[in-house]
Parts: sequence; structure tokens; C-alpha cells
Amino acid sequence: MSKVPNLTELDVDNRRVLVRVDFNVPLENGRITDDSRVVAALPTIKYLREKGCRVILASHLGRPTGTDPALSLLPCAARLAELLNDDVLFAHDIVGDDVEAMTKELLPGGVMMLENLRFHPGEKGGDEEFAKALARLCDVYVNDAFGAMHRAETSIAAVVNFVEQVGVGFLVGKEVEALGRCLQGAARPYVGILGGSKVSDKIAVIDALLSRVDTLIIGGAMAYTFLKAKGVEVGKSRVEADKLVLATRLLERCAEKGIALHLPCDHVVNTSLDSTAPAEVATAIAADQMGLDIGPESVRVFASVIGQAQTIFWNGPMGVFENEAYAAGTRGVAEAVAACSGYTVIGGGDSAAAAAKFGLAERFSHVSTGGGASLELIEGKDLPGLKAIRNKGR
Ligand code: 3PG
Repeated sequence: MSKVPNLTELDVDNRRVLVRVDFNVPLENGRITDDSRVVAALPTIKYLREKGCRVILASHLGRPTGTDPALSLLPCAARLAELLNDDVLFAHDIVGDDVEAMTKELLPGGVMMLENLRFHPGEKGGDEEFAKALARLCDVYVNDAFGAMHRAETSIAAVVNFVEQVGVGFLVGKEVEALGRCLQGAARPYVGILGGSKVSDKIAVIDALLSRVDTLIIGGAMAYTFLKAKGVEVGKSRVEADKLVLATRLLERCAEKGIALHLPCDHVVNTSLDSTAPAEVATAIAADQMGLDIGPESVRVFASVIGQAQTIFWNGPMGVFENEAYAAGTRGVAEAVAACSGYTVIGGGDSAAAAAKFGLAERFSHVSTGGGASLELIEGKDLPGLKAIRNKGR
């Protein structure tokens, strides 16, 4: 972070500040079901208001291919207004003369929100004209969109070339610091916990963790590819056949490096995810069954390892936690991590959603607002959003 200016180093007083936020929130029938990303942007927004800035917020929402009213940012502007207990003007557009005029008419401390950046074709791929049009809306650019820092989109990367002063907001600073503690100088023992459905999504992060952790716990559907690679019968459980060789290689690397690897030793099984039959606990998975969660003995073993940790990085649920019948494994691991006295970080995405569902989110040292972005940082990659701001400073 040393070469990336943070908010307090920028001369923002009374300026028009364009803040790229990540308000890509889950919506159901136009209602926000989890506002954590809006809440996470508040420290930066409040700081800028106190400095008398005119605050212009920009975000994407979903993956529209053009204008899509169902993906308007209006509900986010309304939620932000509730949280600030003040007006948030909504531009109904993204760039152009009218929007520019609105930014100039804002009073000191005033806040406005642009419409979904991805409604504009120029947002993809660093379009120079769109970058310049965004830059005309401000005197200072602040990136506080941690969850989108791994996307080289125009509002994340190209725009910084056309604004004099650029830097990162408090959320990005906090995320980079927390995830950085899992990258360098982590207190030992360091336990990595990975879950989720696909080994293929996690190869790079497993590789990276193998150079850092003392213990690796693998649960979720991805565990079945590893169990199968070890010759364990997994019935109809989800296995990525084309990743068996890779799983074997990763198991060998764990052994070579002396990393303790824990896979589930029992499972909550059923004949299918949709089956109405009651789920059962099994140590051996029958040919007509599939594992849909880790079993109670696995939770016990994982929890005892987790309890010894000084640093934990966790990404990915242990089972299909959205379904109560298969939620106990993820809940058990979440409770064990929450009870751990070490430094505990949850990479965003499903594991963050699980922590929120179980009411435990406040009990971790850090819950990332970025799924893909946090994984890329842990993989050791530079994020386009950070790189653009760092290079600008050169
Ligand atoms: C996220 O939710 O992970 C970020 O907002 C990035 O969204 P994207 O995957 O649609 O680029």
C-alpha cells in the first residue's frame, strides 16, 4: 500500500470527489437483501462530507448488457440516504453535460449517485472517451470499490489517467491491510480453510496457501475431488474428473511441505440435493448417495484444529448451507472460527454470506467485501485498481 495514496493524503477539501464504490448488492424484487457493501462505504463518504466535498458515487450492479431498469442503482441511493439520514441525489444517467452540471450544483457535503456504470458500453475495456467523461465529473478520484478492484474496467483503471489527484478510500485500505496479514508475516499456526463447489476455482489460491499455511482444511463439494484422488469412494458426489491429477499433485505437495491437510471424514448425504428423503450422516458414501455437507465428526476435527490457530483465512462453505438440512457443517466451522482468538479473515462471497446468515459476521477480525478480489490478493496478484493508482503516482 505504501505507494498508493490513501484518502487522508489527498487534498480533497471542498472539491468534487468521484468515489468508485462497489454497490453490487444482492437484490430481490428491487429490494436489497444484504446492504453490507453500502455500509462498508460509509466511512469514506462521511469523511469526504466532513471535508466539505461534493461526493459523486459511481458503481456497477450486476452484469447488464445494456440499460436494464431491474439493475438501476436507485435502490442503493435510497438505502444510502437512509443510512446517512440525508438526501442522496440520483443522476438517472452516468456521464454528459447534465450530469456534469449536477456535480457542480451540489452543495458542500452533498452526495449524488450515478446510474449503473455497466449500462454504458464504455465501461468495459478501458474506453478512453468514457474515462474522460467520468473524469470531467470530478477534481479528485477515490477508489473504494474493493470488491471490483480486480476488474480492469474504465471506472476502475483508465479513469485515473485523466484525474489529477487519485487515491484509495478507507475500505480499500482496510481490506488490503487485513488480507495482507494473511500474505506476509502471518502469526503461526496459520490455518487455511477452503470450501465451495469447484477445485478449478481455487487452484491458484490453494497453490498460494501451500507456501504460507501450516494446516489446510478442505470441505465443500471440492473435497470430493480430493477424496476421490485418494481412492476414497464418494458415490454420486460432485467430482471434477479432469482435476483428479491436479488434486493428486496438490496432495503430494502438502505431504512434501509437511502441511497437515484435513479432508472431511464423515458426510451429510442424500440421493440428490432435491431429494425429500431425510438427510443421513455417513462415514462411507454409498454408490447412490452424494455428500452435501461435512458431517459432525469432521466439524469436531476441523474445530479442534481451528481452535489452535493464530491466523485463519477462510473462503468457501463446507456444504450447501443455503439449505438448512446441509448447513450444520458451515455453521460449525463458522462458529469455530468465530471463537478462535487468533486473527480471522473471511474472503468474501459465499463464506461471508454464511457468516452473515449465522449472525456471526461481527465476530471475525475481518470479513472481506470482495470475493474474487480477495482471492486474487491471496493468490499474490496485483489488482488492476491498485496498479492503476500506483502507476499514476510514478
Ligand atoms: C463482485 O460482486 O464480486 C464484484 O462486484 C465484481 O462483480 P463482477 O464479478 O460482476 O465483475
